[in-house]
Amino acid sequence: MIKYLSAVELHGLVPEDAYFYDLPPVRYLREKNRMVFESPVTFFVGENGTGKSTLLEAIALCCGFNPEGGSKHFRFSTENTHSTLGEYLTPVRKAYFKDGFFLRAESFYNMATYLERLEEDDPCALESYGGRSLHKQSHGESFLALVQNRFGGNGLYLLDEPESALSPSRLLVLLTELRRLTSAGSQFIISTHSPILMAFPNAEVFLFQESGLRVADYRETEHFRLTKQFLNNPEQMLHYLFSIEDTPEEKFVP
Ligand SMILES: Nc1ncnc2c1ncn2[C@@H]1O[C@H](COP(=O)(O)OP(=O)(O)OP(=O)(O)O)[C@@H](O)[C@H]1O
Ligand SMILES: [Mg+2]
Repeated sequence: MIKYLSAVELHGLVPEDAYFYDLPPVRYLREKNRMVFESPVTFFVGENGTGKSTLLEAIALCCGFNPEGGSKHFRFSTENTHSTLGEYLTPVRKAYFKDGFFLRAESFYNMATYLERLEEDDPCALESYGGRSLHKQSHGESFLALVQNRFGGNGLYLLDEPESALSPSRLLVLLTELRRLTSAGSQFIISTHSPILMAFPNAEVFLFQESGLRVADYRETEHFRLTKQFLNNPEQMLHYLFSIEDTPEEKFVP
């Protein structure tokens, strides 16, 4: 059952000259006026450039997170690359969440720097992040330290491609963390390209396609099908790939 964010609604007129005006999720919102979340874990899945991060950042912004990443209390800003789509979204909340975190793909490094600065004033600042500077751990180690120490449950967590830091075995650990945190009343919205992650039980997958947005079974996604096809017979797939005279993208990217 959804505890925190049951939907986001579009209000006002999105300017036609905004870069996101015609992206699939914005077309979907302009048409339906709202996007409803029905499962504690929602995945945004789709081809590169279909607007997953744009929508996730907009959801973060409208829920009061620092648009560049972190918790609600984080106030750091570097390049202001986030879009203004969030200003046109209204969150439909069931309850206020106690804990929350927005992991933006581009700004994990800046967030770690921000935490180190906080520690200069407050030596305990890193305690809830596992006690070790995130900069002094590898990308995957620091990401899991964040999830395992900082994410406490009863929270709303927005993650953009969390798999990018993780080895396959650590990705399985992340699945167990998702289970721990959803059992403790948390809600996740995750943009991902990982067919392993999107297999989380009873998750809802929003498939982002140029033709539009729809809810799908994760096994329908190209991510799942192509990875399965490759792993079933890598040699055959490579043979096929290298025998294509035209650019491979034309064969594999819709
Ligand atoms: N600040 C910006 N200004 C102009 N265009 C942008 C901006 N940010 C993103 N875009 C464009 O909007 C489109 C959607 O970008 P977005 O980052 O949301 O895609 P995505 O679905 O998250 O892709 P990926 O899977 O590669 O992370 C892309 O074509 C991108 O080039
Ligand atoms: Mg993205």
